[in-house]
Amino acid sequence: MDKSKKKRIGILTAGGDCPGLNAAIRGVGKTAIVKYGMEVVGFSSGFLGLINKEYVHLEEKRLSGILTLGGTILGTSREKPFKRGSQLDINKPALIKQHYDELGLDALVCIGGNGTMKTASLLANEGMNIIGIPKTIDNDVWGTDLTFGFDSALWIATDAIDRLHTTANSHNRVMVIEVMGHDAGWLALYSGVAGGGDVILIPEIEYQMPVVNKYLKARARKKKSYSIVVVAEGIKFPAGTSAATYVAEQIEAGTGLETRKTILGYIQRGGSPSPMDRILATRFGAYAVELIAKEKFGKMVMKKGEKIKAISLDEVGGKIRLVPQKHPLVIKARGLGICLGTGK
Ligand code: F6P
Repeated sequence: MDKSKKKRIGILTAGGDCPGLNAAIRGVGKTAIVKYGMEVVGFSSGFLGLINKEYVHLEEKRLSGILTLGGTILGTSREKPFKRGSQLDINKPALIKQHYDELGLDALVCIGGNGTMKTASLLANEGMNIIGIPKTIDNDVWGTDLTFGFDSALWIATDAIDRLHTTANSHNRVMVIEVMGHDAGWLALYSGVAGGGDVILIPEIEYQMPVVNKYLKARARKKKSYSIVVVAEGIKFPAGTSAATYVAEQIEAGTGLETRKTILGYIQRGGSPSPMDRILATRFGAYAVELIAKEKFGKMVMKKGEKIKAISLDEVGGKIRLVPQKHPLVIKARGLGICLGTGK
């Protein structure tokens, strides 16, 4: 790297959006421009922007007023440049490297989830200076204690569960609510405990419907007038239905209790980031630039305890962070009498 030249860095957001992406873009951009006098370019729609050489110059002014905005000002996509397509496919990784060189980039910051970190680590192996920043409402990125987006989604899911309590109580119903999380149960477990769920089903713990039904019937016998069942979208259920639909049907058929379902969906990913997510995204963004300034590349920024640190992208790529069977909150939930769908 030529030390006398003004450094130019690229940034992109990839994968599903989440609250806090703009806070992270701002954290990267402001630190790069204000502290280090770097130039920043933002690529449109994730890796598609790199493939198609579509980008904007992110001057400091462009980064003002975006901290509280949901979504991403750069746009995002689920483009995976290393995924094998038809034989007619262009060589996307080569095109990305070509555009990276043509634009004179000194580094590229990739903000995304597991898929993005995998791509980021492969791009690093192609000779580009890459830094990853983990985001997702699923909180399932391996190598970090926390991703931004999770806290905001947790507030939304918890608020939704709170609202279900009053209507469930009025009608003496069982309410099943499905929350996102992909293959991980973090959001269901946390919102379930925070929202006072009676049953919480997560992909990491194999559930049995007879256990759930027995538990709900026992509640009804104890004159508990209603029950809240929180299910993660990633639990096992037959093809052609959804987690909440399947569980609600099984409950009604197995207990005779009047049951309704709610699928929370994309509301969980929308809107303004929570204060904690704004802070985490800002810290991640600023730290990414510190790594660039120190020329420590091929890393993902991560949170370990209260500290922000870095981990090698090689270590992270292709892995997923699931809820451990003996996670403290799982143990606490069982201790509180919450049903996790198993006999134990
Ligand atoms: O990874 C975030 C997430 O919202 C998951 O919780 C969900 O399974 C998935 O993205 C939905 O993906 P898409 O935006 O492609 O529909």
